[in-house]
Formats: sequence, C-alpha cells, structure tokens
Amino acid sequence: MFDASIGALILAGGKGTRLYSTRPKVLQTLLETPLLEYVYLRMNPLFGERVWTVVGFGHEEMDNAFPAARDRFILQSPQLGTGHALQVAWPTILNAGITHVLVVNGDTPFVPEQALVDLVEQALQEKADLAFLSLVMDDPGSYGRVVRKTDGSVRAIVEARDFASLDPGDEIHEVNAGIYLLRVEAVDRLLPLLTDDNAQKEFYITQLVDLACAKGMRVIAVEHGEGPELFGINTPKELVDAENRLCPEIVQGWIEKGVIIRNREAVRIGPAVTLAPGVDITGPCEIYGNSVLGSGTRVHSHCRIENSQLNGCQVHSFSHIHEAEIGKDCSVGPYARLRPGTVLKESSKVGNFVEVKKGVLGEGSKASHLTYIGDALIGQGVNIGAGTITCNYDGTNKHTTHIDDGAFIGSNTALVAPVRVGIKALVGAGSVVTKDVPDKALCIARAHQKNLKR
Ligand code: UD1
Ligand code: CA
Repeated sequence: MFDASIGALILAGGKGTRLYSTRPKVLQTLLETPLLEYVYLRMNPLFGERVWTVVGFGHEEMDNAFPAARDRFILQSPQLGTGHALQVAWPTILNAGITHVLVVNGDTPFVPEQALVDLVEQALQEKADLAFLSLVMDDPGSYGRVVRKTDGSVRAIVEARDFASLDPGDEIHEVNAGIYLLRVEAVDRLLPLLTDDNAQKEFYITQLVDLACAKGMRVIAVEHGEGPELFGINTPKELVDAENRLCPEIVQGWIEKGVIIRNREAVRIGPAVTLAPGVDITGPCEIYGNSVLGSGTRVHSHCRIENSQLNGCQVHSFSHIHEAEIGKDCSVGPYARLRPGTVLKESSKVGNFVEVKKGVLGEGSKASHLTYIGDALIGQGVNIGAGTITCNYDGTNKHTTHIDDGAFIGSNTALVAPVRVGIKALVGAGSVVTKDVPDKALCIARAHQKNLKR
C-alpha cells in the first residue's frame, strides 16, 4: 500500500463511442465483470480509501453498479475531455491533503501493480512534477504519441488525431499509456491553462505535459516496454482481444492450483470466482461473479454459474445457476434452472427441467422432473412428483408454499399459494391444492373418474 500522501483518481466519465455502447464504457464487461471492477481490484489494495472516480455519461448506472464506491464518485457533466475530468475532480484532490495523485484511465483494466510501483518510485526519486507510463507499440493507432527533444527528454504528448495532421511520414512508436503521477502543487498551476484548441475540441490531460515542459517543470516518461497489459479498451475488437488474453490466464491459474479443467479452451471463469482444489469441470462452461465451488464439486458441460455457492455437489449438463446455494452431495440437472434465492440443503436433488426461485429444498428432498418451485419452503425428505407447480403469483402478490418434512406430492399437482402441506401428508396426483393439508393426511383434490358406456 502506498502511504497516505498519494491518492488515486480513475477517469471513467466517457461514453465509449467507439464501442457502440449504450451504457458507460467502463461498465462493458470482460468475463461478465465490468472493466472498472478490474481497476478497483488493482487500486483498492494500493490506495485504500483514497480512490476517487470521475463519472459522467450514464452516472446513474454507475451508482447502481458500484454501490461501495459511489461515495467517492465525482460527477463530470458535460464530459469535455480527460483534462476537463481532472479539472472537475481537482477540488476533491486539493481537499484530500495529498501531495501526489495517480491518475488512471478507467478503460485500462489490467495495469500490473509493479508498473504502478515503478511509476511512483521513479517519479518520487526523480522529483518529477509530472510522470507517466509509456508503451512501445508496432501500430500506435489511436494512442497519444510521446514526442521527445533531441536530448531524449520528453517534450509533449501529441494525440493521434493531431499527430496525423502533423507529419504522417514520421511515425512515433512510443505512446502514452494513460497512467500519470501528478505532483499536486505543480499541476495546480497548470490546470487552468488547458485549452480545447485541438482536433477533437476537448480538454486533454495530455496537454499538461506540454505546459509543464514550457514552464521548465520536471516531466518524465517511465518506459514500460510492449506489454498488452497496459492497452486501453476502446473498440469491440480490443474488448474481445483482451478477453481472449485474460480467459486462458485465469483457467491456467486454477489448473496450477489443482482444479481439473478438462476442456480448458471452452471454460470461462470470472476474476472473482473461487475454486477449491479437486473441483472437476468437464467444460465447456461459464462460472462468474463471486461464485465459490467447494471441494468435491463436479460441473458437467454447458453450465452457467453466477454468484453462487456450490459445496461439493454434482451439476449435470445444461444447468443455469444464479445466486443459489447448493449443499454437499446435491444433484442438479441436467437442464435445471436455479434462480436467485434457491437453497438446496445437503443431499437434495433438482432434476431435469426443474426451475427453482426463492425456494429452499430441505435435506434429502427431491424434485426430479418438470417442476416449478417458487417462493417455497420445503422440509426434509420430501418427494415432489413430476410436473408439480407452486402457483405463487396471484397477479398482484407472491405467496409462499410450505411443504413439511416427509410429505409426498403426487405428479402434476398445482399448489395454490399461500398453502401448507403438513408433515408426512400425501397429495394425490393431479390435485389442485387450495387449502392447507394437515399432517399425515391424504389429500385428493381432483374430479372423480367416471367410466361411462361408450
Ligand atoms: C487517452 C489519452 C492518450 C493515451 C490513451 C491511452 C487523452 C486526451 N488521451 O486517449 O494519450 O494514449 O488514453 O489509453 O487523455 N474520460 C472522462 N471524461 C471525459 C473523457 C474521457 O472521464 O470527458 C475517461 C474515459 O471514460 C476513459 C478515459 O477517460 O476511461 C480515457 O478516455 P478515452 O476517450 O478512452 O481516451 P483515449 O482516446 O483512449
Ligand atoms: Ca482509451
């Protein structure tokens, strides 16, 4: 962690026009995780509370996506460029009582910690007023070019569009990575001088380099080399390329920790997932969010698991599991759908074409085929016959179904909630149950069969 004299500012106010997105660019995802989340994963351990974020376009969506960070959001409206974003954040930076601020583009998700440490250390050592990370790229594309004087010292960063209009014959391969360490006192004098006199008619943070050099301040570029880990994400292609780099790295990391991932090219695992050694994934499948797969869990192909906890169970193919908790020795699927609020207690079973929402299935209970369980509390050792439906919605409100320990629900039963089926009660197949069934009772709620002469 850096000491309290250094804070961090993430620029995340832009729209991301080149991504053709309708939402803020930094909410675009890699492995179902927003770009900005990756930046926080890196910044928070280094800066603790001293991380501020400039938001602008779609800021309401940003508030919802990052409830824990929103207290330190700074609103930039309208968005007039990266330099303007810094201007808008500046009063907060001055107020924070820090001497240096690390500014990072929010669309650069993989900044390695070491690169940040190098930048800070070198800047402090050389008493720089402004330092930034530079990259070398074969095709510098839309990146700002680092222009140096004949003695090798930095003179300016020239944005791609302005550079193109200068001298297209003379390409520069050293570019600005969009990560800066600013000495607050020095930059305080430069910020009011920014202009929008450029090809995009925006206020560029990169103009600070120009201004600082002109004032004889100390400006350094800390060279990072070629690494793709400092690439920004601006286009659909860059997004997909980044995901393609990240995905196998995460899978490889888990394999090295003892997870069995048999079809590794086809398995996608989010950055915040936790897998126990010995977890067996036959792939292809997707595991996202803060899912935790405990020891003994086996996931067969074509499953999608999100924000769920699996404690040593079997998940058969084509199952979707979202915000669910599954106990030890449970069996799920194939073709099961577990929606938010599902809790499967130890040794319970949810079979094919069964959907559960906000439902607790007690220890050893089974719903093996073609069933909908919604807003239901089901005890231990319950058997739910094929085609059973909990009718939980009356068009206005949701109601709860209780099925107590040891009950048996015959096939094709409709349980019209609110309703309770008592302990060890038995409901005959095809029943429409609208009234509570007492403990140990036999309930038959269907028309009598009549056999008439043909
Ligand atoms: C920027 C740099 C460029 C550098 C590149 C590295 C400028 C002018 N150029 O270009 O030199 O090579 O990053 O990736 O800074 N943002 C705001 N408010 C705004 C505009 C942008 O908060 O008004 C945020 C964006 O959400 C984004 C970041 O600033 O996260 C960078 O903006 P972007 O438009 O992506 O800049 P680049 O053109 O990539
Ligand atoms: Ca960018």
